[in-house]
Amino acid sequence: MHLDWISVTDSMVMEIGRHGFRPTLKPYFQPIYMAAKLISTGFRHTTLPENYVRPPSDRPCLSDVSPLKDFPIIDLASTDRSRLVQQIHQACSRFGFFQVINHRVSKETIDGMVSVANEFFSMSMEEKMKLYSDDPTKTTRLSTSFNVKKEAVNNWRDYLRLHCYPISKYVHEWPSSPLSFNTYSSGFNKLPEGIERFEYFPNCMWFVVRRYLNSDWFMAYRENPIRNPEKRREIVSRYSTEVRELGFTIEELISESLGLEKDHMRKVLGEQGQHMAVNYYPPCPEPELTYGLPAHTDPNALTILLQDATVCGLQILIDGQWFAVNPCPDAFVINIGDQFQALSNGVYKSVWHRAVTNTEKPRLSVASFLCPADCAIISPAKPLWETEEDEAKPIYRDYTYAEYYKKFWSRNLDQEHCLENFLNH
Ligand code: OGA
Ligand code: NI
Repeated sequence: MHLDWISVTDSMVMEIGRHGFRPTLKPYFQPIYMAAKLISTGFRHTTLPENYVRPPSDRPCLSDVSPLKDFPIIDLASTDRSRLVQQIHQACSRFGFFQVINHRVSKETIDGMVSVANEFFSMSMEEKMKLYSDDPTKTTRLSTSFNVKKEAVNNWRDYLRLHCYPISKYVHEWPSSPLSFNTYSSGFNKLPEGIERFEYFPNCMWFVVRRYLNSDWFMAYRENPIRNPEKRREIVSRYSTEVRELGFTIEELISESLGLEKDHMRKVLGEQGQHMAVNYYPPCPEPELTYGLPAHTDPNALTILLQDATVCGLQILIDGQWFAVNPCPDAFVINIGDQFQALSNGVYKSVWHRAVTNTEKPRLSVASFLCPADCAIISPAKPLWETEEDEAKPIYRDYTYAEYYKKFWSRNLDQEHCLENFLNH
């Protein structure tokens, strides 16, 4: 379906009104009590609330961070397999992070996912709070920060956690309520040329925009393709399925790049779980004092990150220094999680990364995590550590993913690398 933007007259706007167009609800009309939990309230703080302020020894020092040069971009459409495998090897051993283009997740699917995500965070507080939970074991939940029950200082992030595999098991849990009315301004979507302001009414039939052209305001609207909850679920399902395939492609490349059979990793990981964190980082009044997400490594096998094409925020730690991974159009950012570090016997790195905030724009990211089956035994691949000597042993002891995940959530996010707890002594 190709949707064009249509200019409308005032009387047509009134017509739209009958289908649910309501005046903008200003953020300060939203119930104050909710602001204590979520931060995606639309309210612009002028100073950072105290519970987000990090001690001076633990602040992002943003002026010391420069963009990462030579950050690998890997073209998955390349027909030169051995070069591809070599690029993966270099990227995973040096950075633990890389970007992929020509990844075969369609643009339509990505745009749909981004719209649904933006729509979700633009809902009213009341609507969002119905999904709020700080219980990490809940498979579908909206939450904030990282682990609010454990942490001393909170993080400037809200996130929607969705489990995505098998889809049929979880899809009924995904948000579906007719969404209440709110305003969304710009953010992730590219606006049509000349559009200065974008008002987005999720529960309506239409996207409505105001356009400033030749010194005059015009209204324009477009059919809202995702007003129907089933349609939204369909979009997210499609996104999860396509991203899963991409993950498998990369897992094969990772196996080969370690000199293992192509299907080695997939076999070891068993029936892989998949979940998603839809992260929303509102503009932050004092980005120097806090994090969106503090430094952490991902506990899973592989992370596939869709990041806001227009707002920077992701940073990774290389040789003790923080670097910004700025968005590259149409690319996914891939990173090695703790399980691939273990399975590769430490050859590949699950690298520390963090998300920082900015004062200007909200930032959206969608992180998809592929995880070993709970019962999968994570055991470093023999060819990577076995030698002639009898005493040779892998760096990490064998464990099940269930054991690892429990340990991960019992800690604070920025403690030691969780794999340190699984060293072979
Ligand atoms: C994550 C993560 C980074 C980002 O969700 O684990 O690292 O840029 N996100 O949102
Ligand atoms: Ni992460």
